[in-house]
Amino acid sequence: MKGIVLAGGSGTRLHPVTRAVSKQLLPVYDKPMIYYPISVLMLAGIREILIISTPVDLPAFRRLLGDGGELGLSFSYAEQAAPNGLAEAFLIGAEHVGDDTAALVLGDNIFHGQGFASILQQQLRRLEAEKGCVLFGYPVRDPGRYGVGEADETGRLLSIEEKPAKPRSNRAITGLYFYDNDVLDIARTLTPSARGELEITDVNRAYVERGDARLIDLGRGFAWLDTGTHESLIEASQYVQVLEHRQGVRFACLEEIALAKGWITADQAFVLGERQASSGYGDYVMDVARRMGADRPSS
Ligand code: G1P
Repeated sequence: MKGIVLAGGSGTRLHPVTRAVSKQLLPVYDKPMIYYPISVLMLAGIREILIISTPVDLPAFRRLLGDGGELGLSFSYAEQAAPNGLAEAFLIGAEHVGDDTAALVLGDNIFHGQGFASILQQQLRRLEAEKGCVLFGYPVRDPGRYGVGEADETGRLLSIEEKPAKPRSNRAITGLYFYDNDVLDIARTLTPSARGELEITDVNRAYVERGDARLIDLGRGFAWLDTGTHESLIEASQYVQVLEHRQGVRFACLEEIALAKGWITADQAFVLGERQASSGYGDYVMDVARRMGADRPSS
């Protein structure tokens, strides 16, 4: 499966914070926002990841993430020239996806929950065996702000609507989508919506109409955090801070995940931590690497 992180948009609801900096590069407590969605793809076992952003912001993402080789990943980059909608990711990313299945994650979506990695891996395996798409639902107080899905008791999606005035359920469709290769053809047939965008919900609706769309409910034990406003952005930071401090672990630590997956060695992870040693994040990476066998003295 190939991964795509879509990190475009102009983040107008966060102005003036995002006037000169991409929203997905803003900090969520101790790391840039885009680390969180990248970590989701990594937890699913995906190593070839295309990052899509605006022509202005793309160089900053390259500066932050490089070619991914140091994490045992492969990052590539592509521009979304204008805000033409989320589904354009599959026109821009068609070559990257090739004849494989695809996971799209939005660069501002933060997920956290017990057992998430195994859910992702299980769904990925299922998608590779069966056809269709897998969407992830999350109960929210204000579903009308999102894509909203309605599923039968087996999890088959019966309907999906984008930002409905009268939501049929409280299940928001989160910004993580697994598709079979047909997504490339579906994306090519889309026409822009009333707001002039190629909507991901229209892609999903094509799968719903084929009876091929599954909804996995992420229940109350999960966090799916919003980062779209000044309030929600700081709340997301506080959530991460509180849990990281309490548990002594860090979420979405890309070096730690790469090491746990066996994509890099403990010594390689240590070097990555050492390079950021003046931050708590870097210290944490070095500690994890030592625990996993890096032969380095403790500081
Ligand atoms: C987009 C999708 C929506 C989805 C949401 C998740 O909305 O169109 O279906 O629920 O992402 O973050 P947007 O954030 O672009 O308004």
